[in-house]
Amino acid sequence: MAIDQLEMKLRPPADTLAPYPPKLITLASGEKMVVRECTHKDVGALLATVHPLLAVPKDYYDIVAARMYSEILGWFRHRVANEFVIVGAVDGVIAGIVTSRHVKSGLGMSLHTLTIKRGLRVGAQLFAAKMEHHIDYLSENEVHIVAESPIGFKRWMIEYELEDRSAQYPELRHELGGVPTFTLTRKLWEAVKPVKCTGTRPIDPAVLATADKLTPPSEYVQLPGWKRGQS
Ligand SMILES: CC(C)(COP(=O)(O)OP(=O)(O)OC[C@H]1O[C@@H](n2cnc3c(N)ncnc32)[C@H](O)[C@@H]1OP(=O)(O)O)[C@@H](O)C(=O)NCCC(=O)NCCS
Repeated sequence: MAIDQLEMKLRPPADTLAPYPPKLITLASGEKMVVRECTHKDVGALLATVHPLLAVPKDYYDIVAARMYSEILGWFRHRVANEFVIVGAVDGVIAGIVTSRHVKSGLGMSLHTLTIKRGLRVGAQLFAAKMEHHIDYLSENEVHIVAESPIGFKRWMIEYELEDRSAQYPELRHELGGVPTFTLTRKLWEAVKPVKCTGTRPIDPAVLATADKLTPPSEYVQLPGWKRGQS
């Protein structure tokens, strides 16, 4: 059997997903963050951004980085069905990343959210962008969500007042290992969207172009003293 035929047998079915239109968010610092959907050409910068955080246990960056690394690679290698990746970039430098997956008509599965540039609610903004994509553009009615860190629990479960579906375990369970599942419904999204989901469209093409080629950060607040390219 030719390798390409075998490769096709290894790939999951793929739906044609609506694109996520890019937007521009002004952070509390005044910096402008381009939020856009990633394509496979971004994979090198995304993996290079996530990789150093494997060594950061504080605030559970290690487990989230490890899982997100695997999700980005799985998306690139066509080993996960209907995954999408959205990035936030300031002057082209990656500030945060989210991963997620369209499961079937009406249902989304939120994977991970990772903030590089801290203290500006970059992760909160990107999580909202991910929910916007699921419900407004992919026309889903529910998104299943779990938290792998106390900060994540505060940001999503508490701040969104997500519906607790954990009592329905094991019939209803999130893909990430069956930890307690919470759900964002369309009704809840409509209620929180005016507060949680910011940004403007369309983006000036010149501003959008600053995020054409993504750059991994050279330093991380999570890794004091670490500099890219230095061993
Ligand atoms: C959860 C997460 C995505 C939230 O991102 P965010 O909205 O951009 O928020 P930040 O990470 O900047 O800040 C969160 C809290 O950390 C603290 N914090 C802020 N800046 C910090 C810094 N430079 N260093 C350490 N802690 C900081 C603050 O207490 C802040 O809480 P508050 O803003 O509600 O007062 C992000 O904290 C993250 O990537 N964490 C590691 C991975 C993770 O847990 N992902 C979610 C899995 S469910």
